Amino acid sequence: MWPRGGYPMEALEVSMDSEAKITPILIITCVLVATAGLMFGYDVGNSGGVTSMDDFLEKFFPSVFRRKLMYDNDNGSAYCLFNSQTLQVFTSSLYLAGIIATFFASYTTRHLGRKLTMVVAGFFFISGVVLGAAAQNLGMLFTGRIFLGCGVGFANQAVPLFLSEVAPTKIRGGLNILFQLNVTVGILFANLVNYGAAKIHPWGWRLSLGSAGIPAFLLTIGALLVDDTPTSLVERGRIEEGKAVLKKLCGTDNIESELKEIMEATRVAQQVKRPFRELLQRHNRPPLVFAIFLQIFQQLTGINAILFYSPVLFISLGLGNDASLYSAVILGSVNVLSTLVSIYSVDRVGRRLLLLEAGVQMFISLVMITVVLHWHVIDNSGDLSHGTALFVVVMICTYIASFAWSWGPLGWLIPSETFQLETRSAGQSVTVCVNLLFTFSIAQASLSMLCHLQYGIFAFFSGWVVVMTVFVYFFLPETENVPIEEISEKVWKKHWFWKQFIDDDRIPKTSVTSA
Ligand code: BGC
Repeated sequence: MWPRGGYPMEALEVSMDSEAKITPILIITCVLVATAGLMFGYDVGNSGGVTSMDDFLEKFFPSVFRRKLMYDNDNGSAYCLFNSQTLQVFTSSLYLAGIIATFFASYTTRHLGRKLTMVVAGFFFISGVVLGAAAQNLGMLFTGRIFLGCGVGFANQAVPLFLSEVAPTKIRGGLNILFQLNVTVGILFANLVNYGAAKIHPWGWRLSLGSAGIPAFLLTIGALLVDDTPTSLVERGRIEEGKAVLKKLCGTDNIESELKEIMEATRVAQQVKRPFRELLQRHNRPPLVFAIFLQIFQQLTGINAILFYSPVLFISLGLGNDASLYSAVILGSVNVLSTLVSIYSVDRVGRRLLLLEAGVQMFISLVMITVVLHWHVIDNSGDLSHGTALFVVVMICTYIASFAWSWGPLGWLIPSETFQLETRSAGQSVTVCVNLLFTFSIAQASLSMLCHLQYGIFAFFSGWVVVMTVFVYFFLPETENVPIEEISEKVWKKHWFWKQFIDDDRIPKTSVTSA
């Protein structure tokens, strides 16, 4: 998930391929990607488990806790158990803070450098973790969450920029899905910690919030250890330092051609003054529409409603405390493994096939869940029988598997490969903002939706899955193996709908490319 700075990213990219060695800096770089992804994933996976822990609820959300106690005693319907705006704000505030922080981070990455921005992110993360784990009241708890959100905003802006400027071109593409893989590993790690922490009374929730300190600490140490990128140093006039870092990165003193490229790329990048205005031009309509719609649809699959609240959801389905966290661990593993499927198949079967297949699979899973729960409500209102609960968990797994090999990674990958060079950075910022905005909205709305729509929440998302699958079928062209510079010619111009936006006489703009 790559929010970019104010410059067209690829114009700033520099080939490190001449003597592409696996240097120590490259290894640290990969650790950085891993920890930033892990940190983001941990935050996504963590809050659901914590908000279903009794000790946590009793301390911070006593009215929800009382409702839960009553439910535990008399077995009534549980769909509205966790319907509390404040409880939802606990989860969603992180995303809102992230959106706001992205704008500041876009400034700091340019003017203070990538390294310092990552250090700032690390400190936000650590402060957020400390405040959350030590929270005595709602104020501390929410401030901690907001700090974590700021960390997400700063890290997600700087880390991708950093990576694209130091990684050899040939591994750059893979890093995009690798980041997503680490997000899913972070979610799984959070689920595992929650599973163990739920058994520790009365402070298990502190352990759960505090464990985010591990990726936060690693990210901060990593950021302090690495040098800023040569591009960032040159861009800020620190040419000699830039040269020195470049020598370290390439593992050789012979860096003249790379340095020239950086200087030229920086010059070209500085000429593109208004990438956001350029983005609104008619010929950029297709990628812009995809950046926005793919993110909206990705969130309207309902993935985060299910991931954030899966422990809560399972309790609501009558699975009991332990079984529900256990199931969340299973969901986390399915998410990781299916992302691996995506990495393997995306360049073999193409984006469209994955999205269309997943659309059908997600639709069937969601409809089955709706039907089973509908019958269940008609029959009785108590706990689900063992067999029914198991069936629901299996269906949620097939739903998550299909998300994880389609909309999860492709929602990010497709926008990153369809924008022209001059608008890619602005385009990616739009992608990230729309994503965080809709993640926030779904996080804020889903517990109320569960309360009011009950099992209908699954039907609601299944309706959206139909809409997005039809959208993919008619509007999304295949972009597999199409070089970005040729996307107008080979993709948009040939598409029945998008061709109207591409003028024949438009001379494609060129920028300095990397490899
Ligand atoms: C989405 C996140 C989601 C994650 C789940 C990502 O692609 O953007 O919102 O939590 O996938 O694995």
